[in-house]
Amino acid sequence: MLHPMPTTGCCKYRADIVYSPEIIDRRLMRSQRIVNQELGTVDFIDDSGTLNLRVHPRERGHLVVQLGSSTPEYAAAAAKLVAGDVDGIDLNCGCPKKFSVSGGMGSALLEEPDLLESILRALVSSVSIPVTCKIRLLDAKDGKSSIERTIELMQRLEKTNIASIALHCRFRHERPRQPAHWDVFDDIAKAVSIPVIANGDMWTLDDMRRLKESHGARVSSFMFARGAQDNVSVFRREGPLPHWEVMKEYLRVSEECGANYYSIKYVLLQMWGDSAGIPFRQLLVLRKSIEEIKALFAEYDDVSGIVSPAVVEAVYAALRAKNKPKPNNNPNRKNKKHGADAGQADASQADLQYESPEMARKRANISPSDGAPDKTSETAETAEDGASVDLAPVPAPMLLASEIANLREHMPESIGQ
Ligand SMILES: Cc1cc2nc3c(=O)[nH]c(=O)nc-3n(C[C@H](O)[C@H](O)[C@H](O)COP(=O)(O)O)c2cc1C
Repeated sequence: MLHPMPTTGCCKYRADIVYSPEIIDRRLMRSQRIVNQELGTVDFIDDSGTLNLRVHPRERGHLVVQLGSSTPEYAAAAAKLVAGDVDGIDLNCGCPKKFSVSGGMGSALLEEPDLLESILRALVSSVSIPVTCKIRLLDAKDGKSSIERTIELMQRLEKTNIASIALHCRFRHERPRQPAHWDVFDDIAKAVSIPVIANGDMWTLDDMRRLKESHGARVSSFMFARGAQDNVSVFRREGPLPHWEVMKEYLRVSEECGANYYSIKYVLLQMWGDSAGIPFRQLLVLRKSIEEIKALFAEYDDVSGIVSPAVVEAVYAALRAKNKPKPNNNPNRKNKKHGADAGQADASQADLQYESPEMARKRANISPSDGAPDKTSETAETAEDGASVDLAPVPAPMLLASEIANLREHMPESIGQ
């Protein structure tokens, strides 16, 4: 199952269920349903011309639309509008970001069980497709442990006749790099009778097996987020495909589905990551259209012919593995600070866990400030949105040459050249 994140047509790699990114109910309910003859999709577009949801026929049978809501009537109206074109409706009750909680949505709902319950009841009674919700672990409070409070809430939610609950095994204040609390999953999941979907630190199908084996997890399904963003072919039972191939395929499929330049570039940057191939990342950041991105890929394909693709892939994987957080997969691990009852932590630590499309657009257009800038840069360049970028317009071949040098430098000995 693929978690809610920007992506296109990823059922291809056999995720059983794919979630749309969260869409705010008021936005969606103002949309008009339009059949897009050219692309063969169903589009939901609002007055301002904003495309709020696009359903591709390939997603049918698998697609859950996730809503952000704090108002039962709005949630129901939005759900009714799309119910005939999707396969499930999910309510996001886990988002810790300010834009969500300040509107009483996302993880704010975890502390408003009456409201949360009434939104779910309104959804269940308005549509005939399954309704689900996605939550996080609750903080310990009023003398009750986190596990007790989480179970209490889930038992309440179960009574609304929702079909399943996805449990992101982190607290609201926790950052993605902190290990997910797999150790509590089983105790919580067995306290309800509806399926509970495990989310948090699933990077490969092996993690999924490990959770099942080491924690005796009563788990019916697993939700992959960053693991799928990293390599969306993670769902392939035969093992994931090489990164570079998946990125090329993503570019092809997303263009075919009419995705816009901003989201394509954003997702590609996420897929490439920060830890490997910095020059390629810089080049990608500077592309200003889908055509330019395609040209860069074609150019890079040629270069990866000089250094064999297997070497590129192996080095890339090694570099990424260095930065990947370690999953909390040791059944005997007792990490008090991160334990299930750690709760009550300082909410000010809350991380920006993921980005709104606007932020994503901005991020995709400005410098990769989180990646190491090219120290050889001598001039500053201005990006599309006017932000100053510490990147020189170094000719592509130069950067690509340094990319190759980087690859050679990090090449595992076993691979040779
Ligand atoms: C780029 C990105 C976008 C996300 N968007 C959403 C979202 O729209 N709704 C949601 O419930 N969670 C969203 N999440 C959170 C994930 O669904 C997931 O709960 C979290 O990343 C933990 O899973 P992981 O450890 O496997 O990454 C997003 C995460 C990422 C990385």
